[in-house]
Amino acid sequence: MNDNPSRSTELSANIRRLQNRIEELGRIGAITGGGVWRVALSDEDQEGRNLVVRWMNDLGLSIQVDQIGNVIGTRAGVLDCAPVLIGSHIDSVATGGLYDGALGVLAGLEAIQTLSEADLKTQYPIAVGFFTNEEGVRFTPDMMGSAVHQGSLSLQTALETVGTDGQTVGAELIRIGYAGDTPVKNMTPQAYLELHIEQGPVLENTNTTIGAVTGVQGISWTEFELQGVSNHAGTTPMHLRHDAGYVAAAIAVEARAIATDFGDNQVATIGVSELTPNLINVIANRARVTVDLRNTSDAKLHQAETRLIGFATDTAATEGVTLEKRTLARFSPVEFDTVIIDMVEKAAASSNHTYRRLPSGAGHDAQMFAPNCPTGMIFIPSTQGISHNINEFSSEQDIAAGMDVLMKVLLELLQKQLSN
Ligand code: GLV
Ligand code: MN
Ligand code: MN
Repeated sequence: MNDNPSRSTELSANIRRLQNRIEELGRIGAITGGGVWRVALSDEDQEGRNLVVRWMNDLGLSIQVDQIGNVIGTRAGVLDCAPVLIGSHIDSVATGGLYDGALGVLAGLEAIQTLSEADLKTQYPIAVGFFTNEEGVRFTPDMMGSAVHQGSLSLQTALETVGTDGQTVGAELIRIGYAGDTPVKNMTPQAYLELHIEQGPVLENTNTTIGAVTGVQGISWTEFELQGVSNHAGTTPMHLRHDAGYVAAAIAVEARAIATDFGDNQVATIGVSELTPNLINVIANRARVTVDLRNTSDAKLHQAETRLIGFATDTAATEGVTLEKRTLARFSPVEFDTVIIDMVEKAAASSNHTYRRLPSGAGHDAQMFAPNCPTGMIFIPSTQGISHNINEFSSEQDIAAGMDVLMKVLLELLQKQLSN
């Protein structure tokens, strides 16, 4: 084995092989017209997991599946210690693209294969992992597997979580064969790195190839359940209505008003809106609406939540509708390690890639590692800023640039001691 780290800067990954893997994984759960449906712990997720595990085995990695179904494959280093970990996810939203999450995991595999083909020995072990239920569309919260891995969510709570279809995480893990026996919270990596598509428009709009991600904004998910009284749409005077549909709609309008009034980084989304009985001439007796609020400032996110909940409570009371609210996810903003951010910029500059710093608008597994070990992310552009959409796309050229920066940062991390 070659153990001269100076050789490392000459290593370059095989981008065609990486693209082929992205496309092969993208055929599992493929949606007509493009994109994937590989929702967490579904049959499609199981099939995707099996494929990535096969690739890990082909690379001779030592594979561990933990109690929440996270899968980590490790290549040994000179030192027998915790690895530098490259991670992301392979589950998708129900209208997912080929790159969200998959890029980071498959780039990790490609990095390891590149090191092995060069017969390069590293000081620290290197590992690649995919974490259970990053998306959070079937089971909440999102980033579930990485949160349990890093101890911010209890294993018990996660396993007992009931999904949108009434199944639990624990039962579904057993069903798909990924209820592993490696204890959770058993490893703090030397460092954690994640290559991901930006999923937004900033890089493309500024003609920038590499994003040196500074952190992840705070995320707040709330579900409102409203119970009113069904009645005839034509005969019930307005002042006698207990219209759950009206209150849900008013909450949606208020969420948008909050984002408009706060400006800056405040965003608000009504992702789910359901009425019962959902008939044109019947006042809805039940409504369910979810609100996703995000801000890079935790204080402002708290203000947004307070205003929304106050509004929902008052409007429901005035309409004579009962309101129940449930927090489905709540993550404070996190900041990534400045040493790693600098390393990403330096690596991009050394290859003449354009680069800029930016916060992540999307949630990522990296945010669960950030409090516990030096953590960073590398973004590449998303065409037209589109993601969580079957038309999500990143070019091979940008993937190659991201992979190049990942390799450079990784090689430095694999030889260097960092402290958090
Ligand atoms: C996860 O993709 C999220 O940001 O919602
Ligand atoms: Mn993702
Ligand atoms: Mn996503």
